[in-house]
Amino acid sequence: MLQLQKRINDKSAKLGIVGLGYVGLPLALAFSQAGFRVLGFDIQQKRVNLVNQGKSYISDVSNDSLSSVSNRLLEATTDQGRLNEVDAICICVPTPLTKTKEPDLSYVIHESEEISKYLKPGQLVILESTTYPGTTREVILPILERSGLKVGADFYLAFSPERVDPGNKKHNIKNTPKIVGGIDPQSTTLAELLYRQVADIVVPVSCPEVAEMTKVFENVFRSVNIALVNELAQLCERMGISVWEVIDTASTKPFGYMPFYPSPGVGGHCIPLDPYYLANKAREYDFHTRFIELAAEINERMPYHVASRIAEALNTQGKSLNGAKVLVLGVAYKKDLADFRESPSLKLIRLLGEKGAEVDYNDPYIPQIQLTQNTLSSVELTMECLSSADCVVIATDHSCYKMEEIVTLSKLVFDTRGATRGFSSNNIVRLGE
Ligand SMILES: NC(=O)c1ccc[n+]([C@@H]2O[C@H](COP(=O)([O-])OP(=O)(O)OC[C@H]3O[C@@H](n4cnc5c(N)ncnc54)[C@H](O)[C@@H]3O)[C@@H](O)[C@H]2O)c1
Repeated sequence: MLQLQKRINDKSAKLGIVGLGYVGLPLALAFSQAGFRVLGFDIQQKRVNLVNQGKSYISDVSNDSLSSVSNRLLEATTDQGRLNEVDAICICVPTPLTKTKEPDLSYVIHESEEISKYLKPGQLVILESTTYPGTTREVILPILERSGLKVGADFYLAFSPERVDPGNKKHNIKNTPKIVGGIDPQSTTLAELLYRQVADIVVPVSCPEVAEMTKVFENVFRSVNIALVNELAQLCERMGISVWEVIDTASTKPFGYMPFYPSPGVGGHCIPLDPYYLANKAREYDFHTRFIELAAEINERMPYHVASRIAEALNTQGKSLNGAKVLVLGVAYKKDLADFRESPSLKLIRLLGEKGAEVDYNDPYIPQIQLTQNTLSSVELTMECLSSADCVVIATDHSCYKMEEIVTLSKLVFDTRGATRGFSSNNIVRLGE
């Protein structure tokens, strides 16, 4: 342990970051900018080549920052055999759901098996992927100990959740407190020391389970609050009250309230998935997380709700959804991002298509999307394209969209994000009003 402490302190430790995606690439960059030699691992040769060429494919990592760290400090490889070159390993692989919404730990398990093959005395292994409480101890530890090495004595193991918020210009790895929970006190101490090299504040906790539960709780907190406001939006529609005005008004309270906004649903690799990780694990303890599952259900129903409101809006103009030309603006799950994983826009496009609408989309960040049956390409956002659509749906309010132009040129605008607030035009219909 002392040797690794010394190597972290004098920055001679070499770090392995496994999974160079939204979480892994910024982390690899942060450690190499702090002066550590980093070896990034990914199974996608294309990503490895890009990193080695100093080219970024993640919006929060600029080409300049990636190419400014020398190849000596940041290198990427697909060769897992090189795991034995590093002193500490951060696992940042995906934790998706199966088709039936069960946790799919296959990436984590596969990677643990790889690490176990090459595990060497003194190494520190940290899981960063979001998962249910118990994963580090119950799933990863036994696999690593198959190597014959013992945790606490021969190697160290901790969980440290990634709290990155893609697209957030204010909060990043450095100024977002990092939680660490080791299997044993030495593992916590080492993980804490390691992350102190890149984060201003590191919060050690008593065990990996607390760190794992904290991360899922943070995401469940968002999911529940988003569901609450989505439910309120639907009630406001019935009552003829603007939910947007209600939220703005509630936001004048300086304490005890935090605004969340209605939307066509939740997306990304966290909020739609993580509640299921917890709900599923809870069942092992004969416990039903009703609140959490209700929130997921409300959020997942939002694209259906939006689709039927679009149909109603067309109806008031004497048109039916069947045969209507619908232009969906924004398929990213969040504004100004190029990530459309689990995006509600995808479901919305599918639902509108199933009802007979002719659907096109525009997203300046996402040139193509793969739907179950077909591939769609982003159309150019021309005046002609706006004016020829029977309905233009603002699904993601990217900053580059010129709302005034959209409202002026479109026959009907269905706004799911409150992006047209402030405009009072008869052709606008908003979610939550
Ligand atoms: N995206 C976010 O905003 C965010 C935020 C916090 C936490 N997380 C969590 O972090 C984890 C990673 O998410 P992400 O968004 O970075 O995913 P991602 O899909 O962007 O990146 C994962 C990378 O891992 C690679 N990979 C998969 N298996 C591998 C293996 N065996 N060896 C090497 N590389 C492998 C993939 O090719 C991919 O490049 C997930 O558990 C997620 O829930 C994500």
